[in-house]
Amino acid sequence: MNITLVTCNRRKSKSVTYGVARQLIGALLEDGTLYEFCLPQDMPHVCTACYACFTDSEEKCPGRKYLEPILAAMENSQLLIFCVPVYAFHLPGQLKTFLEHLSYRWAVHRADPTMLQKQAVIITSAAGAGMRRAEQDVRDSMNYWCVARTWGIQIASWGHDWADLPKHFQRKIDEKTKRTIHKIKAHQTHLTPCLKVRVLYSFYRFLHLRRKMVPIDDEYWIRMEAGATAPTET
Ligand SMILES: Cc1cc2nc3c(=O)[nH]c(=O)nc-3n(C[C@H](O)[C@H](O)[C@H](O)COP(=O)(O)O)c2cc1C
Repeated sequence: MNITLVTCNRRKSKSVTYGVARQLIGALLEDGTLYEFCLPQDMPHVCTACYACFTDSEEKCPGRKYLEPILAAMENSQLLIFCVPVYAFHLPGQLKTFLEHLSYRWAVHRADPTMLQKQAVIITSAAGAGMRRAEQDVRDSMNYWCVARTWGIQIASWGHDWADLPKHFQRKIDEKTKRTIHKIKAHQTHLTPCLKVRVLYSFYRFLHLRRKMVPIDDEYWIRMEAGATAPTET
């Protein structure tokens, strides 16, 4: 399958989250394409709340040139992987900035229906605390982007790098990774959105098609309706 990988630092061989991502990619990429982006280098623009994406067009975003290659890669991928080291109990600021740029893609605005055919993995690692919150920070966007299935892998590294992880840490991580690979493969054959995503997509679709929300967003859903279908039941 094609995979888009988003990382938040260049620690590569030292990085715990990147180490897990490499395991997932090794098992799932097969003859697909890997698109790799590192933040903030690949998305250095910070949202300045110009509101262009909400009120006019996402094309008018001053950071659009950075966003476009990432969006194209995600559109062409079946799996999105986010490496999320925990910084100050939450996700890194560079990832928050990236997710903010895609707020217009939330179902409350203009959801991309191709997300209903994708899965995502959020790999969080902290020295000891904050993985749950950091995962939720990213999961909120996955759900409101309407990604069909989102899986989480949380790792307490206790200050170790990937290269010097004790054997029993590595064994536990291998088990978590294997379970996630199994779930991704099992769902990939007949991928259906989870209940939360089905409800969110259907609810906002209902409101937009009845012109109950912002006109620019309602028009988008009405135009899209010609080609798109609502998510199916599991
Ligand atoms: C700026 C910064 C802030 C951090 N804040 C936390 C934190 O709040 N809680 C924690 O347990 N670890 C914290 N850490 C440690 C990292 O989350 C931890 O080393 C993690 O395993 C790094 O992931 P990586 O190896 O994929 O980069 C912080 C590290 C940095 C650089």
